Amino acid sequence: MCGIVAYIGSKPARELLLEGLKRLEYRGYDSAGIAVLNGGIKVARSIGRVAGLEEMISIDSGFDGTVGIAHTRWATHGEPSERNAHPHSDNLKNGHGIHLVHNGIIENYVSLKKYLISKGHEFTSDTDTEVLAHLIGELYDGDLETAVQSALREVTGAYAIAVVCEEEPEVLVVARKGSPLIVGVGKDEYVVASDSSAIVAHTTQAFLLDDETVARLTRDSFRTTTVDNVELTPEIKELEFTLEQIELGNFDHFMLKEIYEQPNTLRTCIQGRVDAVGSKIVLGGVADFEAEIVKAKRILMLGQGTALHAAMIGEYLFEKLAGIPTEVEFASEFRYRNPIVEENTVAIAVSQSGETADTLAAVLEAKRRGALTFGAVNVVGSTISRETDAGVYLRVGPEIGVASTKAFIGQVAVLTMLATYIGRRHHLDRDEMSELLSALEQIPDHISTVLGQSDHILEVTKGVVDRDNWLFLGRGTNYPVALEGALKLKEISYIHAEGMPAAEMKHGPIALIDKGMPVVIVATRGSQYEKVIGNMEEVRSRGGHVIAVATEGDTSIVEHCDDVFYVPDVPEPLQPLVTVVPLQLLAYHAAVLRGKDVDKPRNLAKSVTVE
Ligand code: M6R
Repeated sequence: MCGIVAYIGSKPARELLLEGLKRLEYRGYDSAGIAVLNGGIKVARSIGRVAGLEEMISIDSGFDGTVGIAHTRWATHGEPSERNAHPHSDNLKNGHGIHLVHNGIIENYVSLKKYLISKGHEFTSDTDTEVLAHLIGELYDGDLETAVQSALREVTGAYAIAVVCEEEPEVLVVARKGSPLIVGVGKDEYVVASDSSAIVAHTTQAFLLDDETVARLTRDSFRTTTVDNVELTPEIKELEFTLEQIELGNFDHFMLKEIYEQPNTLRTCIQGRVDAVGSKIVLGGVADFEAEIVKAKRILMLGQGTALHAAMIGEYLFEKLAGIPTEVEFASEFRYRNPIVEENTVAIAVSQSGETADTLAAVLEAKRRGALTFGAVNVVGSTISRETDAGVYLRVGPEIGVASTKAFIGQVAVLTMLATYIGRRHHLDRDEMSELLSALEQIPDHISTVLGQSDHILEVTKGVVDRDNWLFLGRGTNYPVALEGALKLKEISYIHAEGMPAAEMKHGPIALIDKGMPVVIVATRGSQYEKVIGNMEEVRSRGGHVIAVATEGDTSIVEHCDDVFYVPDVPEPLQPLVTVVPLQLLAYHAAVLRGKDVDKPRNLAKSVTVE
């Protein structure tokens, strides 16, 4: 995934584009580039972060224009290098000065490239994007919009693009298919970006570009069409973002800010949806499909990474609270088998971004095979939210840290509400439901209690942070929490960590345990408590350093571990909402102690829009 920002208006484009790129940098940070029209065109590209690009062009008056495009890259085709950085152009000697930035993958770029080479085009990068720039140049006949439409009819794959042409300096053309693109509408100006965070400082009026749609923008007009030139009328809406939501405030990192936001984001997520007294769940996005969802005979949950871990918790919840057979699948694996989708299957796509390519493809495959599809998604208007039949938004606000935290809490909360909603229409007793829902309403306060232990968690982390191999163990709903703890640690601190069911350890991984190896075990009170204590002893007797996540008041746990993080006592189905929090903090502190870039871990991007 990459970040795109483009501008046409009367403000200095350079400053606006650089500021937009900084906001989008979480989407990719292998290289950055910019092109500004200024009578001719001025282009700069640099490897690494936006700050490097900014330094490179800060005093160059060549960038003093009011129309431009910019890009921050997460490399797919072609190594991260200056020559592969965007913008790319149709740099034929007799080219038209087409310059383009792109997010996505042009799948048929090899055959297109052969064709273009046969027409005399010379390529200077290894990217699929450059092929699209040349194709537009090849088809250009005095009208950029028409050339872009024609080119896009020839390409397969996914794209969000912004294109300028030196021969039409008053025009900006943007288009999308599969990758997100939003057009911010200001007074005599347009700011186009991969997400609202790069737009909201300039205007709060915007429209989402639909798939396979092209927009031609001048300073004071716009026109949107399909790639076949059928005119469309997009709906301009108010953006829901605020600047405060996307700024660091007093925090050192977005990840930490987002961990601390969790009490409030959970409140917002359940507000107006949970009625503990009336034993009721109100989910607007389900209403139209209530009958189909309630009669589901099978639930299929799809996701990747953290979202998959939330889905695994959902599996326990749907089976326990709703009594419906449920399976969780890596979305990436699902579509390449011959998945059997039985009648009355509800396929739930779990995703923060709503743009993850694997999850999107899997849920569309489930739909093709007859499932009713449901999105548990955070980003409003994202592709998954639009492609699914029904859904419930997470309402946790923009998540900018690459390591997902508050979205996980939102995903688990939405799945809990949905499981309870369906369960109540099956066998779930009114009192049992009421008890669970009032416990859910208390969770935000409990998360705050756990956050209060951050200093203690930091001290414990200091004692083990030099160790390069860790295990995370849990049982029941806390097994996915163990997976999530391991994922958080590895992705931001680059420590090797494995999560697994506590009982699985003795089937092989126990061989890894040596003196001082950190083993984090979720050992909260519940149906498998004694068994987990047994697993802790197995680790300790082999010299492992046991860090337990235990229930407040469980003083005897200290006999079985070296360190302990306490969490409030909550009903077993809700435990992941509190047990994950110390593990998020542990990973955060480990990354900071190791001097890593918490919000921009190496090789990663916030959402993975390629398969
Ligand atoms: O946007 P999504 O929730 O669909 O993203 C899924 C994963 O790519 C994501 O959770 C990833 O694993 C995060 N980096 C985890 O912190």
